[in-house]
Amino acid sequence: ALAQRQAQGSLPFKPISPSTADDLILPEGFRYDLLAHRGHDMGDGSLFGENADFLAFFPIDMLQKGLDQNRPQFGFTRSDLSSTDGLLLVNHEYINPMFISGYTGSGAKSGDQINAEKHMVGMSVIRVKRNSDGRWYFDQTDTAHNRRIDATTPITLTGPAAQLDGGPMAIGSLGNCSGGVTPWGTALSCEENFQDYPNPAPTGYGWEPEIYGKRHYGWVVEVDPFDKNSMPRKHTAMGRFRHENVAVRVGSDGTVVAYMGDDKADSCVYKFVADRKLTNLADRPGNMQILESGQLYAADFANGKWILLDYNSQSALQSAKDSKGNLLFSSQADVLADTQAAAMALKATPVDRPEDIEIHPLDGSVYVALTNNTGHGNFHGQIVRMAETDNNPAATSFEWSIFAVGGSQSGFSSPDNLVFDGEGNLWMVTDISSSRTNKGIYKFQGNNGLFFFRTSGPDAGIAFQFASGPVESEMTGPCWSPDGRTLFLAIQHPGEESKSLTELSSHWPIGGNEVPRSGVVAITGFKR
Ligand code: FEO
Ligand code: CA
Ligand code: CA
Ligand code: CA
Repeated sequence: ALAQRQAQGSLPFKPISPSTADDLILPEGFRYDLLAHRGHDMGDGSLFGENADFLAFFPIDMLQKGLDQNRPQFGFTRSDLSSTDGLLLVNHEYINPMFISGYTGSGAKSGDQINAEKHMVGMSVIRVKRNSDGRWYFDQTDTAHNRRIDATTPITLTGPAAQLDGGPMAIGSLGNCSGGVTPWGTALSCEENFQDYPNPAPTGYGWEPEIYGKRHYGWVVEVDPFDKNSMPRKHTAMGRFRHENVAVRVGSDGTVVAYMGDDKADSCVYKFVADRKLTNLADRPGNMQILESGQLYAADFANGKWILLDYNSQSALQSAKDSKGNLLFSSQADVLADTQAAAMALKATPVDRPEDIEIHPLDGSVYVALTNNTGHGNFHGQIVRMAETDNNPAATSFEWSIFAVGGSQSGFSSPDNLVFDGEGNLWMVTDISSSRTNKGIYKFQGNNGLFFFRTSGPDAGIAFQFASGPVESEMTGPCWSPDGRTLFLAIQHPGEESKSLTELSSHWPIGGNEVPRSGVVAITGFKR
């Protein structure tokens, strides 16, 4: 407690207390502007989607000013780039049918209901600008950039598993949770809970399963936000699992690696090492091929090793059988399409639901949010820090330690999305599920929060609360403008436990008796 009091003097904000209010609560001197919410007109008749998750801000001038290997979401690392005008790529993870189509879970959906739902998932690209009065807004007139990618958009697959199930074309992108950005100025959107979609209601959404290739979902999708006509691509070389996120790092020799988590209880952390090196940042078409081929590894935390998931060199994959005695894999495509089974066959370490992963901008260490695993009695999760041998991103061994542990002592539970600022401070949002929020062992935290951590010095690992979300919401997708003066944030699933459209548990952001709407905000007030 003494350390906490001393540290507060040097914090960039005055911490808030936990809250159960139905609003986005911020420290004194900070403000949020609502950029877009579910159903917002994109300017061309299409609609902004539901349940925003990952956000990535691309300064509008970044291709002209020249790329660098420091990713743009680190606050105040590129003072030459615009921090008042850019493209915001937004993931739309999933839908709440009641809020989209009025469907409340009995009987078959109509074609119109299904159609409405399909247009609320996927991604948006929106042009966002900051006025001379300091307020942010969504410029709906920029129809040259504003774009929707949804469950009907044609998307191609690349890599060794691209031909499965009649590939290489998929219909839409599903379960887009968190993601990442590349040094060559594209976004990576991760398909997480794809298993919800092709199934009939009530376990799935009741869409037509026959049109969705079974293994066309669960991949990392690369999108060029600057080119509205470009086709997104799903990179099968990076494996198929419940992809939470991807964090890209470039080694000193141009080796590109990507860290990824499989957000399922008792699933693994992965690393992809691309074959093709990054040698010329200006060669965007060439660089957009980097994630099409490479080696995939799974983490063995017991031995501090990265295990190669390669069918041809790992005999244990060639002989692995399922519970009925059938061979699990006959090719690398099979290994990639069921990555977790391959990782288990090679004795990688199952961990407690890896959510976001981020790379420390100053020392290259890798921070992993393990959100919780109630099946193991891990109710509040932890944040783990991995360090590659010799700080080489392509190393095949690593060390790890625990950075912070959730619980009433530390003030947070269930860490999810992470983002660093340019000084190396870690910002983390929590995801206590709505059925548990404000109850029992979770009551101490109130609604889900946004927390700040120093990563070095005497206060390292101490959580200070910066924000509290509306009722039954989870804050997602934190990302910075290059000057570090704006934090973009999504408010996902406010009021998701509402029993009906007349018994609503949240009215955010409009208030009154309005239905709750997920949305995206810009938070300002940071003094840099
Ligand atoms: Fe969609 Fe693992 O969060
Ligand atoms: Ca998440
Ligand atoms: Ca992140
Ligand atoms: Ca979560």
